[in-house]
Amino acid sequence: MTCGNEPIVLALPGNEVLAADLVSALGAEPGRLTLHRFPDQEICVRVVTPVAGRDVVLVCALDRPNDKLVKLYLAASTLRSLGARRVLLVAPYLPYMRQDSSFHAGEGVSALYIGRWLSDFLDGLVTVDPHLHRTRNLHEIYRMPAIIVHSAAAIARWIRDNVSRPMMLVGPDAESRQWIERVAREVPCDYLVLDKVRLGDHDVELRPPTSPLKQDRAAVLVDDIISTGGTMLAAIRRLRADGFDAPICIGVHALFIDDAYRCLRRSGAQNIVTCNTIPHASNAIDLHRWLAPAVRELLAQPPQPGR
Ligand code: R5P
Repeated sequence: MTCGNEPIVLALPGNEVLAADLVSALGAEPGRLTLHRFPDQEICVRVVTPVAGRDVVLVCALDRPNDKLVKLYLAASTLRSLGARRVLLVAPYLPYMRQDSSFHAGEGVSALYIGRWLSDFLDGLVTVDPHLHRTRNLHEIYRMPAIIVHSAAAIARWIRDNVSRPMMLVGPDAESRQWIERVAREVPCDYLVLDKVRLGDHDVELRPPTSPLKQDRAAVLVDDIISTGGTMLAAIRRLRADGFDAPICIGVHALFIDDAYRCLRRSGAQNIVTCNTIPHASNAIDLHRWLAPAVRELLAQPPQPGR
């Protein structure tokens, strides 16, 4: 039974499970939209649920983002034209964050452009551990209310429940320090951050660690994104060469491009575990309990004037 004031949660295709979890956790109304793809690949969005005067929460993990961003734009614009009060986005995986600088002459800064564009047609954002590196604060590029949910507590809980030996958390590169430190504090346990040199899209090299190693510990690798799997594979090789047993690999965002997941499974990783920010067979850490309060906090904020 709905009373018409609660938010409406709408899943873009592929996000139905998380959307349903959020409906229950928020006491929201489940909404329905359909997408029709014409023979020429253009898309038409139809919102079936009446939305006039209501806050609408769109749920869409933005991995493999190009097609999804167009769908998101069309859905948000349709909702606005139907009189939705606010259109908020839950994007557990936020794309285009790694091109946060112009690395070569003539390159653009995609993180900035995508952030500005999404901010133009959305009223708020909840995301999980976005790849903040050279950009320290999400508000430098997102000009709308935005809340970051950290996966550290959920990852730490999984580690405590599943790893019984004394352990050592390992971050594959400098960027991972921010996640590793948080998880290590929560477990609690020691951690080590490796030094990565990226040689190409698929190729990375990890330098031998300089700090003393404790090979009797279970090594638990933690990174934010597993994309080609190159970073995890190189880290596994590094740790094996340094005398550790096969490590456990934990990623926040399971991008797993092409056969990355298969290669990683064959590489001798003891276990591969991810959070459910992108639906994938490796998802073992459920974050909806952490996402729901962030959505509630966003909904409690007054609508921004002039938006
Ligand atoms: C990069 O800095 C990220 O934190 C990840 O380490 C990276 O995106 C992983 O990519 P791949 O799996 O392609 O090595």
